Amino acid sequence: MLILRDTEQEIRRAAEIIKRGGLAAFPTETVYGLGADAFNARALARVFEVKGRPRFDPLIVHIASRSGLERVARLSVLSPARRALAEKCASAFWPGPLTLVLPKQPELPGLATAGLSTVAVRWPGHPAARTLIRLSAGAGKPGAVAAPSANPFGRLSPTRAEHVVEGLGEKIDCVIDGGPCPVGVESTVLDLASPRIAILRPGGVTREELETITGPIRPALDAGASGAEHGGQNAGEPDAAGPNAPGRLSPGTLKSHYAPLSPLVLHDEKEMAALPREQDGAYLFFSGKSRDAWAGRDRAGYGETGPDGDPAALVLSETGRVPEAAANLFEYLRRLDGPRPGRIHAEILPEEGLGAAINDRLRRAAEH
Ligand code: TXA
Ligand code: MG
Repeated sequence: MLILRDTEQEIRRAAEIIKRGGLAAFPTETVYGLGADAFNARALARVFEVKGRPRFDPLIVHIASRSGLERVARLSVLSPARRALAEKCASAFWPGPLTLVLPKQPELPGLATAGLSTVAVRWPGHPAARTLIRLSAGAGKPGAVAAPSANPFGRLSPTRAEHVVEGLGEKIDCVIDGGPCPVGVESTVLDLASPRIAILRPGGVTREELETITGPIRPALDAGASGAEHGGQNAGEPDAAGPNAPGRLSPGTLKSHYAPLSPLVLHDEKEMAALPREQDGAYLFFSGKSRDAWAGRDRAGYGETGPDGDPAALVLSETGRVPEAAANLFEYLRRLDGPRPGRIHAEILPEEGLGAAINDRLRRAAEH
């Protein structure tokens, strides 16, 4: 596998690989993606194979232009109101960590969407991702790069090129090394193709931010559970029959996901402070304050170095900043998991803003 630098010249090599049907991993602002030409069914089949991903779990198609969006999604079958909402979301959050589920263009291979009539589309903000998508365009057609996170299915998502090398290594053709991903959790998946809009996966764009554009969004689990609804978000029901059944979830939002190899146990701040120091335990704190509350009651366990130098007790953000915690989440879980501790104890964050996405990943990791 080639490791490429984040320069236009080297990104061009990755784009050539994609155009020839190969697989190129690349940085986005959220996590590293494993990219393939969204219109090449054989390349898509390889993506599922190297990740060990079930084929019922559809991919996100990455675009870098308006014409790219139109090549993969069919906005014209949405009602005018829903179409206007899609346009508003796109102009408010693209390029960025938001994925929109929209009606699919028939030409897009069914493998990209797991046979659904909808497609998940994202216009990423990371410059390397945008350059790659632009350069992978061919024959007068705008680039469309299908890319799941570049990790083996069910494992922690990669936020550095080294994680991709560790997880997929020789199974893929190249990775563009763009350093650590600044957001650190995957994009928010927003379903705009069903009668009632829903967040199928919390992520880099917060519910609060989305709701400034969409109005209140009901939790996905309840979505569609009852019949008629009033209120802004249903003003624009799609003309196309809703592809997802009522009460749906994103097909890929499996309960157990994003998992380290060691068992993970979740606690709130108070419970963390009261945990005994286990010999083979590992600890993931939200803030320095939480760590100190815990360390204060059991300093004896540390020996000379104290908790700061302890590789089995990590702090997502010393000052309790949630975006910093998100950026460190997957890397720190990997570090704690490395020596295969008996258990990893992790602190749940306040359920607001990006905290919702962090908690979602922690809960899925704890399901194993
Ligand atoms: O931040 C991200 O979104 C990253 C980077 C690489 O862009 N990608 C990513 O892809 O997280 P992946 O494959 O790990 O997650 C895609 C999610 C899955 O939960 C999948 O079920 C959902 O998007 N999805 C894809 N197509 C869908 C569709 N048509 N309807 C509903 N959910 C869909
Ligand atoms: Mg993934």
